Amino acid sequence: MAKPVTAFTCTACGASHRKWSGRCDACGEWNSIVEEAPLSQGPGRGLGAARGRVIPLTGLSSDEPPPARSASGIAELDRVLGGGLVPGSAILVGGDPGIGKSTLMLQAAAAFARAGARAVYVSGEEAGAQLRMRAGRLGLADAPVRLGTETALRDILTTLDTERPDVAVIDSIQTLWSDTVDAAPGSVGQVRAAAHELVTFAKRSGVAVILVGHVTKDGQIAGPRVVEHMVDTVLYFEGERGHQFRILRAVKNRFGPAGEIGVFEMTGGGLAEVANPSALFLSERGQPNPGSAVFAGIEGTRPVLTEIQALVAPSTLASPRRTVVGLDGGRVSTILAVLEARCGVPFAGLDVFLNVAGGMRVSEPAADLAIAAALLSAREDHALPAETVFFGEVSLSGALRPVGQAENRLKEARKLGFSQAILPTVQKVEGTDGMRVTRAADLTSFTGETFGAG
Ligand code: TYD
Ligand code: MG
Repeated sequence: MAKPVTAFTCTACGASHRKWSGRCDACGEWNSIVEEAPLSQGPGRGLGAARGRVIPLTGLSSDEPPPARSASGIAELDRVLGGGLVPGSAILVGGDPGIGKSTLMLQAAAAFARAGARAVYVSGEEAGAQLRMRAGRLGLADAPVRLGTETALRDILTTLDTERPDVAVIDSIQTLWSDTVDAAPGSVGQVRAAAHELVTFAKRSGVAVILVGHVTKDGQIAGPRVVEHMVDTVLYFEGERGHQFRILRAVKNRFGPAGEIGVFEMTGGGLAEVANPSALFLSERGQPNPGSAVFAGIEGTRPVLTEIQALVAPSTLASPRRTVVGLDGGRVSTILAVLEARCGVPFAGLDVFLNVAGGMRVSEPAADLAIAAALLSAREDHALPAETVFFGEVSLSGALRPVGQAENRLKEARKLGFSQAILPTVQKVEGTDGMRVTRAADLTSFTGETFGAG
């Protein structure tokens, strides 16, 4: 019999390697590669040796109505799920420890239960008394959620199979322990096996299973990325620890649009929905300051305005600082290079700091013009026109390119009291919604018009 092959797996990104090394070349994480127990290779591995059974094949069309989704009534959560929970789906909710996953999931379970679904919450991390205390503090004590505290996967599966709830929350996948895998809880093998069993159970039984997973920095525990490919929906709960805002983002969704976000605020009484995130993200903005530009963005299907803040200061370093929070660093470098090479605005010898206010993360290329505007405004120490939003993509030639959903962006800006939008000349706009629209063909003409000859 062939010798079983030992595999090494990165606990941060799930990449497999032939041998151990200190750093994963797939994700760049240090000290995250662990040895995984080899898969047992039974007899008859050759396909001819033992024939499988014939599986039934069907056509693509179906007379069955699509499965009814159940909504929790927490609108920010239902939207991220694509309009509610699909029966038999498997959902992963990942996030840093302490960000509020358990709080959100307890609130979600209670909301589903109050909306008439049968909800089970299984915790492997907290004691029953602790959970009941939290539920009391969140004002959820009367919600008909069935609570369990267990880490043995076999017992959890048997319980769920007997109870057959509509939704089951498992908090967290890293605490589960399957007796079929000879490895410690939290290891790649255990996390994979437990997730596989639970996803299979969800498909077979029609129970929607929500798995909570901690994002980990330390290689001893496998992160949620290891199971991302197994589940239907991957949601990440993000936010800065110092800020009270939390964003639930759909990274993958087989039952709805990916990229959708739900915005919450962490309060003393748990997570509160933020129905109008733009107002929240702009709430700390005072008088127009040099270095501040408002970006009219789209997150998923919803327009969201954010403030991009830049600071440019003389540097004492040989290679000046480029500190970027909430934006893609590569994108910012490109815009700086375009400003230097195409518009003749040098940033050499200057430290550059960029930040999205409120702890939001913006990844749309449509933010390019707002980033450039913030950078120029900071460098010239000249505030941008008041009540103005920006959007448009910057190409390497310095030309401004059109972006999608201009009307929705303008509408949201109008709603929040903005009166002017600066956007690319080539941008088609169906209706301006009463906004004054100023156009720029490229960054050079934008710079000239906004900051005079500078
Ligand atoms: P938790 O849901 O336990 O985080 P996770 O499951 O992601 O590890 O949230 C822990 C944090 O949330 C903790 O620092 C306290 C804070 N919190 C509040 O601010 N208000 C609340 O009502 C609750 C329940 C928690
Ligand atoms: Mg928790």
